[in-house]
Amino acid sequence: MAQPYRTAYHFQPPRNWINDPNGPMIYKGIYHLFYQYNPEAAIWGNLAWGHSTSTDLVDWTIHPPALIPSDSYDINGCWSGSVTLLQNGTPAILYTGCDTQDTQLQNLAIPKDLSDPYLIEWIKSDHNPIMVPNPGEETLFRDPSTAWLGPDDGIWRVIIGNEREGNGTAILYKSKDFIHWTEAERPLHWTNETRMWECPEIFPVLVDGTENGVDTKVIFQGIKYVLKISVAGTGVDYYTIGNYDHENDVYIPDDGFVDNIESGLRVDYGRFYASKSFFDSAKTRRILIAWVDESTSREIDIIKGWSGLQTFPRKIWLDKAGKQLVQWPVEELETLRKNQVILPATTLKAGSKSEIPGVTGAQADVEISFSIPIATLEQAEDLESSWSNSQEICRQKASSANSTGVGPFGLLVLASNTIEEYTAVFFRIFKKNDKFVVLMGCDQKRSAEGFEYDTSKYGAFLDVDPVTEKLSLRTLIDHSIVESFGGGGKTCITTRAYPTLAINDNAHIFVFNNGSHDVEVSGLSAWSLNRAQIN
Ligand code: FRU
Repeated sequence: MAQPYRTAYHFQPPRNWINDPNGPMIYKGIYHLFYQYNPEAAIWGNLAWGHSTSTDLVDWTIHPPALIPSDSYDINGCWSGSVTLLQNGTPAILYTGCDTQDTQLQNLAIPKDLSDPYLIEWIKSDHNPIMVPNPGEETLFRDPSTAWLGPDDGIWRVIIGNEREGNGTAILYKSKDFIHWTEAERPLHWTNETRMWECPEIFPVLVDGTENGVDTKVIFQGIKYVLKISVAGTGVDYYTIGNYDHENDVYIPDDGFVDNIESGLRVDYGRFYASKSFFDSAKTRRILIAWVDESTSREIDIIKGWSGLQTFPRKIWLDKAGKQLVQWPVEELETLRKNQVILPATTLKAGSKSEIPGVTGAQADVEISFSIPIATLEQAEDLESSWSNSQEICRQKASSANSTGVGPFGLLVLASNTIEEYTAVFFRIFKKNDKFVVLMGCDQKRSAEGFEYDTSKYGAFLDVDPVTEKLSLRTLIDHSIVESFGGGGKTCITTRAYPTLAINDNAHIFVFNNGSHDVEVSGLSAWSLNRAQIN
């Protein structure tokens, strides 16, 4: 069977269902990625911890599942969790098991043979389950985070996703020995703005203006913290930046940060969920990976025999202004680049489209930047006050032709020869109280001719001032996934696409401007990408 939607460098196993990334880590120089995996089918169920390793985050070797349902405490599934490197460097998995009643329990597993850098075999602790839910929370108690040590007391802490009295909550548990855990007096954080939290994570970020990462365990003055949560049933990962009050063991978001899906910061504004990060001690960086699900039906998943991808690993750090995270594909991706195409700076006329020649459109990496003369910016449309929500503006304004304003301009990727099929990644500029507001969007309405799939349009504001800065866009294209990074990674949008015409050699990339004003392309580099080895 032809498989036009399988990816060339985004991680996926040969067949079957995957969802959340679990317990990513580096151990003895080898990267480990575990993930929710159904060994039997292309639909969710029978969850095991699939396991793969890599030396460069590009090529992956797939091993047998590290955990499969086997005991009363996980017989209905080995659900999501994390790895913690203990003081002596031993990796320990904390994961959620579902018992026969579907009660969610936290369990521990450790490697059978620490001298095996691939850590193929894992042993479940005799003490399992090591954390059990409070009455009434049996199905609202899952996804342990990476644990960290208190700076003064040497006591381990971990957070678990929970909903308490209707509020999204990260409950805190403490332990002296990683085996016996008790719930802390109060949760690390909670909000009445959302329901159940899945896959919560707290990690430190540096405020020194570098892109370096720090270990979850590191605690010192002048560090900020990120709390990331995935809101059940919404498909949204969002985060706040704040401080961790070590005395009271609570997280306090900075002023202006909201625990709210409408106006909170999202890790990615597209299709992207259950992200998980880890500190890469080999390169002093923090790396984030997330699950990107299919936007077609379950029936189609069964026919193609697989479902779900992982994002390409991203380095993440705190932006210089301290107001948001920045994300960028790890540099190792660049080893796949070949046949660079550089196009000179040029004017992109209103209403024009031009192809980027000489690139394999189904497997590519494109970096483009735009600069907009101030006289043109003055022509931008006013942002109507009723459009407070960026997703809403995108739904209304999208990328369509004959727009009156500055933009939409950007890239048409996975586009067919005559552009009846494409996914548009674009910028659009609005005026608001004498300032300019940049909207970044992804319009997938025309991404698959004759196919049923989710056609939502994604959008988000980009914190870049087009008066003083160029507008940069990097887009990774890989057969059925498009990951875009605006403003050097300040705003990210990931989508899936299932082209029926723009497949393999028939996939093209165009630069387009559907606005009513010319804009300047100040730089453009595009690369074809080699296939990674994933087997
Ligand atoms: C998130 C999630 C987790 C759970 C796992 C089960 O996608 O629902 O909360 O542990 O997936 O596969």
